[in-house]
Amino acid sequence: MSFLLETSIFNPQTLPLEETIFHTANGYIGVRANFEEGEPEGVNGIRGTYLNAFHDTHPISHPEKLYGFPETGEKILNVTDVQIIRIRIDGEYLSLSSSNTTEYRRCLDMRKGWSCRNFVWKSAGGKRVRIETRRLTSFTRPEVFAIEYSITALDPMGIVIESAQKGDVGNYYDPSDPRVSGQAFQALEVIDTSFAGGRITITSRTKAKGTRLWVVVDHEIRKDRTDPGPPEATQIDGEACLTWNTTMVKGESLILEKKAVFCDSLRHEDGLKHAERISDDISGLKFSDLAKEQELYLADFWLESGIGIEGDDHILKGLRFNLFHLLQSAAGDPIASIPAKGLSGEGYEGHYFWDTEIYMLPFFLYTRPEIARNLLQYRYTILPEARRHARDLGHKRGAAYPWRTIAGRECSAYYPSGSAQYHINADIAYAVWRYWEATADIDFILHSGAEMLFETARIWIEIGNFFESAFHINTVTGPDEYTCLVNNNYYTNRMAQKNLEIAAEIFKLLKRSYPAVLSELGERIELGKDEAAKWTEAALAMVLPYDAERDLNPQDDSFFQKPVWDFAGTPEDHYPLLLHYHHMTLSRFQVCKQADTVLAYILLGDDDNSTIRNSFEYYESITTHDSSLSYAVFSILAAQLGNPDRAYEYFTETAALDLDDSHKNTRDGIHAANMGGTWLATVWGFGGFRPAGEIPSFSPRLPSKWRSLSFRIRYRGSAIEVRAAHDRVRLSLRAGPSIDIEVYGLRYRLDSELIVFTDRA
Ligand code: BGC
Repeated sequence: MSFLLETSIFNPQTLPLEETIFHTANGYIGVRANFEEGEPEGVNGIRGTYLNAFHDTHPISHPEKLYGFPETGEKILNVTDVQIIRIRIDGEYLSLSSSNTTEYRRCLDMRKGWSCRNFVWKSAGGKRVRIETRRLTSFTRPEVFAIEYSITALDPMGIVIESAQKGDVGNYYDPSDPRVSGQAFQALEVIDTSFAGGRITITSRTKAKGTRLWVVVDHEIRKDRTDPGPPEATQIDGEACLTWNTTMVKGESLILEKKAVFCDSLRHEDGLKHAERISDDISGLKFSDLAKEQELYLADFWLESGIGIEGDDHILKGLRFNLFHLLQSAAGDPIASIPAKGLSGEGYEGHYFWDTEIYMLPFFLYTRPEIARNLLQYRYTILPEARRHARDLGHKRGAAYPWRTIAGRECSAYYPSGSAQYHINADIAYAVWRYWEATADIDFILHSGAEMLFETARIWIEIGNFFESAFHINTVTGPDEYTCLVNNNYYTNRMAQKNLEIAAEIFKLLKRSYPAVLSELGERIELGKDEAAKWTEAALAMVLPYDAERDLNPQDDSFFQKPVWDFAGTPEDHYPLLLHYHHMTLSRFQVCKQADTVLAYILLGDDDNSTIRNSFEYYESITTHDSSLSYAVFSILAAQLGNPDRAYEYFTETAALDLDDSHKNTRDGIHAANMGGTWLATVWGFGGFRPAGEIPSFSPRLPSKWRSLSFRIRYRGSAIEVRAAHDRVRLSLRAGPSIDIEVYGLRYRLDSELIVFTDRA
């Protein structure tokens, strides 16, 4: 049951939220769960279909523009709407409302990979009709989205069915919410529409960049008794429509199947041909055939990437929901990453942030490394843009990855919490390192990874400086966006230190074993003779703020000089603080939007010590978790510090954040980083998994509520299954070569199966 999400309450107020929750996507196409028949009256829904990385540009207007500010933004586009199916019964349009709809049910079946919506509708004239719909976005055929729309007449009726594709669509905006776009944006224009039998083809182009989109939609209609005949094709108000006009006797059924293929010129030179070929390939397949493929694909996914928990059904459902949506959001090609809202909505304009590398990529890396490789490859694709961004910022060498972007441009207009978050460079380098550690994929390092590591490392030398023999990094913003432009942010400095160390390590590896690659790369990026030595020197001398008196790591040099925020005097409804206080006010206090210093401890695998314990307690008392990226980190650290029940309290905030809409903005899209965070909290936190060179280690510590926890890890080609209970952990080798592992600090060779009892650990 916990793979099935369902509701049988028809509530117009919650429909925008359901559009997100029940959306279907496959990393390329994302379709919000809008009603085929259109939004019921009074519902302010967000009708949307998105293609990962398919965007247009727009000028960024700065009322006071200074040197180097970004001039052009990028925005994911709401594209051709293929969801539209309108029904007219004896002349009356079917439109859902509480008074005319019964037996309402909608679902998302995460094992089968499709969503459904069923109801009985009664017209004003008293005619009843049963509607049953299913839709899927195919995991095995990335360009395909399909709808099965089934109508059963419960009374005899005349019926008109219209299936439309609307190319004339714009993006959603809300000027009152800083987390979504505040301005109207319609950047897609239809340049051609054609009809051929049951096929409609729409070609569109983005206004600024001229990127093309081809959408080919095939229709098949089946009716129990009589043939509804050929449809009438019309083009009205930017819609291309096929209309069937027929009659139905009582009890008769009719099924309309729509199969839409999306192709764009970012990915295909001749996208129209490509789309037509795919449409032809699937022309013989019914929705149920596509559904079978989907189910098979997901069977593998759940086996390799699923999690089992005994004793906590709601949490387990939340967790599965998160993993399913992560899969739905991850691109399968190197020109896209994972937007902060996945492909479920327009929040954050389809931009990619550090969210991918730090929060989401680990799930893929340790369960499906090929997806992690694609995500890193995307960062390699935008490396030239990151170099340009570095030059804009005034750096002679290296690459500065943009804080938020689609195609590589810095799209943040507000540099204090945009470009100043230089830590994104180290976050990407960190992900490259972890990928290399877990896969030993030398091909990736030689062709992309080394260059990314060198170019990111260079930036620290550019922005840092030696002062009294220590290396300082000034005027940056760490993950906590409530404190901007600070000196020596602990997180940034530690991650930069790692970035420098790994770059130096890979430099040595190349020098020793791949001198020709090093020489070609060195020449291409004009690597100076002593640069690698400088990386090591800076790493060794890196300032890591420490308050000896309190045995704490301050978030930055001046953090502890500020007063603590007046939490007692802050009304409950003033959270999130960013919506109620000026940014500068927040910056003058010790108050954190999200995990910052404590995140470094878990990423870099620090051993338990008094500073970490003190810092955990301290930052816990001043963190608001106004960003959804926060809870999971505190949960992991609590588990790491041996307190699984405290970890569990945080975990309950994160595991069902979107399912319970606890941040009250899931209507704008899922919180994809938080979803990745819940996997981390489960596997790194309670599962105690830590990668360490060639040897993965496990030290599970379960919260008292759970009877058991199980998950799988792929490491260096081996698939390891972990089943942990309170008194024992069983590890099984499910595929790949035998491997050395550590369990509760002791080394074992895993050949087939191993049981370690916790009292002997
Ligand atoms: C967080 C950032 C995050 C962004 C996108 C912000 O609210 O502070 O850390 O990258 O959301 O999820």
